[in-house]
Amino acid sequence: MASQRTEELIKLDLDHIVHPYVAVGQHMGIIFEKAHGVYLVDTEGKEYFDVSSQLMCSNLGHGQKEIADAVSEAIHKTDYTTSFYGFSNPYTIECARLLAEITPGDLNHFFFTSGGSESVDSAIKLARLYWHYKGKDTKYKIVNLYNSYHGETGISTYLTRMGRGAPQMGFGPEPPGYLRIPPYYCYRCMFGAKYPDCDVLCARFLKDVIESEGADSIAAFFAEPIQGSGGVITPPDGWWPMVRKICTDHDVLLITDEVMTGFARTGKMFATEHWNVVPDIMTMAKGITGAYLPLGAVAMNDNIYEALEGNVFWHGVTYTGHPIPSAASVAALNLYKKQKVVDNAARVGAHIRQRLDKEFLPLPCVGLVDGKGMFQAIELVNDKKTKTVIDLDAKTELFKKILQGGVYLRITGALANRMFICPPCTMTIDEADRALDIILPLVAGLKPK
Ligand SMILES: Cc1ncc(COP(=O)(O)O)c(C=O)c1O
Repeated sequence: MASQRTEELIKLDLDHIVHPYVAVGQHMGIIFEKAHGVYLVDTEGKEYFDVSSQLMCSNLGHGQKEIADAVSEAIHKTDYTTSFYGFSNPYTIECARLLAEITPGDLNHFFFTSGGSESVDSAIKLARLYWHYKGKDTKYKIVNLYNSYHGETGISTYLTRMGRGAPQMGFGPEPPGYLRIPPYYCYRCMFGAKYPDCDVLCARFLKDVIESEGADSIAAFFAEPIQGSGGVITPPDGWWPMVRKICTDHDVLLITDEVMTGFARTGKMFATEHWNVVPDIMTMAKGITGAYLPLGAVAMNDNIYEALEGNVFWHGVTYTGHPIPSAASVAALNLYKKQKVVDNAARVGAHIRQRLDKEFLPLPCVGLVDGKGMFQAIELVNDKKTKTVIDLDAKTELFKKILQGGVYLRITGALANRMFICPPCTMTIDEADRALDIILPLVAGLKPK
């Protein structure tokens, strides 16, 4: 039985709050009140391992004092001042300088937003504006992948294609100019092909689409380096270099969405570093502040910046370059360096992966282990041969038991059957082992069908 306080809070929540991605009027029955390190604490005082870093965003773990202090200091000095019309503040300037140090290649210029979806919308408008200023207004179409998640705002909604059209259901028809190709999901290849015999058909298909549509009509190709909300799906090694080359050869901009994969998550600062690929534009958010405050950014390379220079960027949101999230980001970016978070994510991520391969993969209802660094998932199936997706009842039951056992994680993805093992990038091996020790017997208890 929950305490009276918890019951009252749940009632007030149900009376007044509409939650995303759950039937309206439903509640988990848990209210998180505190967080420290890799733990969440609810109003009953119960501790949970945060094995999904909330929404894969608490990359630095919880309770980092230096971020709290930086925000407190900044907010005592200033509140909101605008970055419109060329005004600025020292926090946002320092944040951009630090980002330029860590982003690959010549991604040296940044437009700030309030989060991932706004970054995605801004990146698409930026790509189209780039071609406009280059005198090529016919280049407006965007190609992206099925199974992708890019957000919930105007444009990003149409780039999001999880499951079978689900996010668009009920929101009316999509505007023209959005094309999709099959993703790099080898385990369930939409072409029915087998890697490596396929010679990365799904990447080569991009070339066919660009040429069939006409390269003069395509503004950009847009993709997550590893599909995140779609299920933590990793491309085969040849995919990214091939896609980079196709885009360059056809004068199509390459935009990577690092909102979830960025900032140490995959064991590199940015995930395309795994394949030595540098995009023309990159979107980011989440880990940019370690999720302590909302902030997003769009990075663009020198070429795009130079095409815009002297022309107006007809796009802005009130909180672009807000000093306080910028101060949080400066503190976060310094912590990534000081606490060697990328190295930790690579090292502890490799340990987690080893255990997933050795102890989870042989279990009867685990079809696949996928991911990199602290971005891992296990695919839950009824049967390894037929690969049928685990039953909803079994999945819900498993999720509840794991939560009762003291682990918060997500079982989601395009087919809603991937268990995400994506803890804060600061987690230690000992903490990872203790969390996995809770999960393992519960996954082992799943019965094949
Ligand atoms: C790859 C990717 N892009 C964009 C978004 C949208 O970000 P936000 O929820 O901050 O708007 C997300 C959110 O999970 C994401 O994973």
